[in-house]
Amino acid sequence: MDPNPADEPTIAVRGNGSLQGTVTVPGAKNSVLKLMAATLLSDGTFELTNVPDIADVTIMGDLLEAIGVVIERPSSGHLLLTDTGDLTPVAPYELVERIRASINVLGPLLTRCGHVRLSMPGGDDFGARPIDMHVAGLEAMGATFKFSHGYLEAFADRLHGADITFDFPSVGATENLLTAAVLADGRTTIDNAAREPEIADLCEFLIAMGARISGVGTSTLVVDGVERGSLRPVRHDTVPDRIQAATYLAAVAVAGGELLVDGVLPEHMTMLLERFTDMGLDISTTRSDRQLRVIAPDRLRSIDVATLPYPGIATDYKPLIITMLSVADGVGIVTENLYPGRFRYVEELQRLGADVRTSGHHAVVRGVSRLSGAPVRAHDIRAGAAMVVAGLAAEGETQISGVHHIDRGYDDLVGRLAAVGAHIERR
Ligand code: UD1
Repeated sequence: MDPNPADEPTIAVRGNGSLQGTVTVPGAKNSVLKLMAATLLSDGTFELTNVPDIADVTIMGDLLEAIGVVIERPSSGHLLLTDTGDLTPVAPYELVERIRASINVLGPLLTRCGHVRLSMPGGDDFGARPIDMHVAGLEAMGATFKFSHGYLEAFADRLHGADITFDFPSVGATENLLTAAVLADGRTTIDNAAREPEIADLCEFLIAMGARISGVGTSTLVVDGVERGSLRPVRHDTVPDRIQAATYLAAVAVAGGELLVDGVLPEHMTMLLERFTDMGLDISTTRSDRQLRVIAPDRLRSIDVATLPYPGIATDYKPLIITMLSVADGVGIVTENLYPGRFRYVEELQRLGADVRTSGHHAVVRGVSRLSGAPVRAHDIRAGAAMVVAGLAAEGETQISGVHHIDRGYDDLVGRLAAVGAHIERR
């Protein structure tokens, strides 16, 4: 059950006209959390920039502090992490259950300390999220595991290289094996690795630290282990958040108007931008390689979409796409190929008058001309953002509760939308 204390904030949105102006997108949650975990591989002070101001960064910081890393935030968007080498490789339940990415400390701690005790990870509530691929991969590298009382314990004096082929390109498992392999004895090959831009960002971070990795950005990563102690701390600029960027595109798509989205890497969103263009958005690049100009059509057109691992359409975009389809002209079918249970927010959209039917891992969305504002609840980060976007497409006021989910992954969503003309406030 979601916590819903009486004093919990809500976000109130009114669909009152078009958006105009510039939105700057911060660094990616799904990268920075992994970069933070990877600082466990070496002593010294790491400096991360373009860090989003989101709750998950704070939670990951608390987890790393419990392990022994000193965290400082000298200014907005800037994080210093000092690893003194005095680490306690234990990740307690109270912190781990709040954030899925806590599983990312497994690989670095095991390879650095030879032992880890980690509460089983939590995170967004959209169905079972097993870690069998993380475990099987580390076992192939010589680790042994024990599971009891909600904790997993892993042991390995020194991991050794292995040839690992994933059944499915899991983002988290790719990251854990990559970070573990960096200090393993010999060569590790990860086949059918995930190719998300956030993984390439992690690879570049590790390479700058002194890791030997080839195949960056491809589905075969080859890691030649280096000696413990030979890695060094680095300064790194976090890759832009393509999901936050997509959220602002979806916002202008349903509200109308024109936005300049700044701080984004369009090449990380190629397929999504094609699909948004099919829906009628006029999307162009500018002279800067980190900007997109977006002009909304009078009415969006429906399309069919299926989620897939990168470079396919990310599952995290899907609540936004369904929201856009709910006010588009025609019928669109959305197929979820990663998390079958990830349609929980559809009931909330229906409360706003959306015509969406789900069956198994498909949703059929019949566009209506306008949604109708109502109280709704955010059940996870992206679903919460989709509720905000839906509110922009709704007549009257939409009040969104469960705002703590949105705060986990969005850096001032309300302020950024208000600055481009949205009628939105946090209460
Ligand atoms: C990451 C992202 C999340 C995104 C997802 C897919 C972070 C913090 N989260 O999650 O926002 O939605 O990628 O793009 O970066 N699976 C297994 N066994 C495993 C590992 C995964 O069966 O050992 C399954 C999962 O249950 C799921 C699918 O593989 O059905 C994808 O999971 P994965 O790519 O690992 O996602 P996460 O890293 O958890």
